[in-house]
Amino acid sequence: MKKLYGVIGCPIQQTMSPLIHNDAFLHLGMDAYYHAFHVEPKDLETAVKGMKALGVSGFNVTIPHKEAIIPMLDEVDEHALKIGAVNTVVHKNGILKGYNTDGPGYVQALKRVTTTNDKRMLIIGAGGAARAIIYSLVQEPGVTADILNRTPGKAISLIEEFSFHNRCRAVTMEEAVRSLPTYDVVVQTTSVGMHPLVEETPISLSSLKKNAVVSDIIYNPLETKLLKEARLKGAVVQNGVQMFAYQAALAFQHWTGNVPDVDRMETLVTKRLGGTSC
Ligand code: ATR
Repeated sequence: MKKLYGVIGCPIQQTMSPLIHNDAFLHLGMDAYYHAFHVEPKDLETAVKGMKALGVSGFNVTIPHKEAIIPMLDEVDEHALKIGAVNTVVHKNGILKGYNTDGPGYVQALKRVTTTNDKRMLIIGAGGAARAIIYSLVQEPGVTADILNRTPGKAISLIEEFSFHNRCRAVTMEEAVRSLPTYDVVVQTTSVGMHPLVEETPISLSSLKKNAVVSDIIYNPLETKLLKEARLKGAVVQNGVQMFAYQAALAFQHWTGNVPDVDRMETLVTKRLGGTSC
C-alpha cells in the first residue's frame, strides 16, 4: 500500500518539502506520497492524533509547531529534547518519535564548503534555528563560537543552558565587528535579509577575514545582501538551500532507511526559487 508522509505548519503553502520528497520517492521507485497540511496551532493536538490514527508513516514539523509538538509525542530523541524542538516525526509500531534534523543537516551542509575542525565562528542569532545549529556545531572538534544576538540575554542563556561556556561566548555588535578579522566562518541564522526585507544585513562585513566562509540559512532570496557583500569581498558563500536539502535528506532517512540524492534536492529547490544550479 502507498505510504503517506507530510509536513504540518502554519502557514504552509510556501513549503518546498513536497517537491523534493515526492521527487525522491519517484527517483528511488518508492510507492509513497508527501503532502503539505495546514494546521492551526489550536488544532495541533488533533492533527497529531489524526496522523497516528490514519497511519501516516512520518511527517515534518515546521513553524510554529516545532516546540509545541514535543509533549504530544510518544518519544523524543535526546538531542531534539535538549534543543527543545522537533522537525521530524517517525511513526513506527504505533509510536510517534520526534527528531531534530536541522542541526545535523546544517553541519553536513556547512561541510560541503569548509572543514569545521578548530574553526573560529561568529554565529548571528540565538532563536530557534540558532539553537539547533549551535547545539550541533559545538559537537564538532575544536569549534569555538561567538554568538551575536539583537537581544544579548538570549545568547547568554543559550550558552548557560547547554553549558557551552568553554566553547562559546555572547558578544556585542561592537565586539563582533572588532573580532571580524579573526572569524573563519560566519553563520547567519536570523530572518534579517529575508524576503521582503532584502535590503537589511545583520552586520557589516567590511573587515571580514580573507578566505572566510559566510553561510546564511536564508534561501529566499538565494543571495541575501550579506552574502552579496561577502562574495564581493572574496569570501566563500553558502545560502540556505543546502541546509534545507540536508535536513530533508536526514528526515527521509529516518522515515525510510534510504539515502536520497541531496544534490538533486538542492537543484530542485534552487530552480524553484528562480536560480541556476551548477
Ligand atoms: P527562528 O526559529 O527562525 O530562529 P526565532 O526563534 O523567532 O525564529 O528567532 C529569530 C532570530 O532572529 C532571533 O535571534 C532574533 O533576535 P532576538 O532574539 O533579538 O529577537 C533575530 N531577529 C529577528 N529579527 C531581527 C532584526 N530585525 N534584527 C536583528 N535580529 C533579528
